[in-house]
Amino acid sequence: MNLIDGKEVAAALRKEIAAEVETMVAKGERPPYLVAVLVGDDGASQTYVGNKEKMSAEVGFRSQVLRLPAETTQEALLAEVARLNADPEVDGFIVQLPLPRHIDEQRVIEAIDPRKDVDGFHPENVGRMAMGLPAFVSATPDGILSLLRYYDIPTAGKHCVVIGRSNIVGRPIANLLSQKGWDCTVTICHSRTANLPEVVRQGDIVIAALGRAEFVTADMIKPGAVVIDVGITRVPSETTKSGWKLLGDVKFDEVAPRCSYITPVPGGVGPMTIVSLMKNTLKARHGL
Ligand code: GUN
Repeated sequence: MNLIDGKEVAAALRKEIAAEVETMVAKGERPPYLVAVLVGDDGASQTYVGNKEKMSAEVGFRSQVLRLPAETTQEALLAEVARLNADPEVDGFIVQLPLPRHIDEQRVIEAIDPRKDVDGFHPENVGRMAMGLPAFVSATPDGILSLLRYYDIPTAGKHCVVIGRSNIVGRPIANLLSQKGWDCTVTICHSRTANLPEVVRQGDIVIAALGRAEFVTADMIKPGAVVIDVGITRVPSETTKSGWKLLGDVKFDEVAPRCSYITPVPGGVGPMTIVSLMKNTLKARHGL
């Protein structure tokens, strides 16, 4: 069994990005500029945005966090989005989700200029990605592809079983792995799939992205399979200082011995997501 070390891969990619920014700046070009909009004071969102700001600095980007109060109206937020769309200095920006309940998230996402949509959430980017055209690919699916690439894991002709059909993970990763270059045969499983364990057992590559802690058990995994765990469920824990710990969608201890490769939680897919946002911001600086 080989452990896929997301922290190591993220650090390697971060170094590559930092070197590229350094070269740009040495040539007198301005560094990429990323803005994150945070509405309200959701604890997890503050942490995520803080980490994005920190990594931006590490790779030499200019960055800013726009903190808006929880009572910000939809109109005011849309006005902010329009201002960022029009600002020639801003290469890319994200609006951190979830937004307060009185704001229509889809409306906000669709107001972002697709050329600055470094989250890859705008329907134009989702559509372009699905067609195999140059696009901003969202962070989690892009991070999974980077892990497979880094470890040189063969994908052509392999049967990839994706568990979960969300717009941000399951469907895009299924689409991407079916495309030329990756060449997987892909099956998507979901809550209505009949005989799910039997289907998952056919997977040479299993991507668990359903959001149910320790759902995937050893009996569902073909010996030698590659297992990518996207789950991050917070559960109470007496052994951690914070009082909680993260569980993946895979019962790691029993599944790991059966795998050729497996991602841990934490330390697998998670660390990749912010570096994918940095990749997209660098791409936005030059244009898609
Ligand atoms: N909330 C949780 N993950 C993300 C993300 O990748 N982008 C944005 N905008 N919000 C999030």
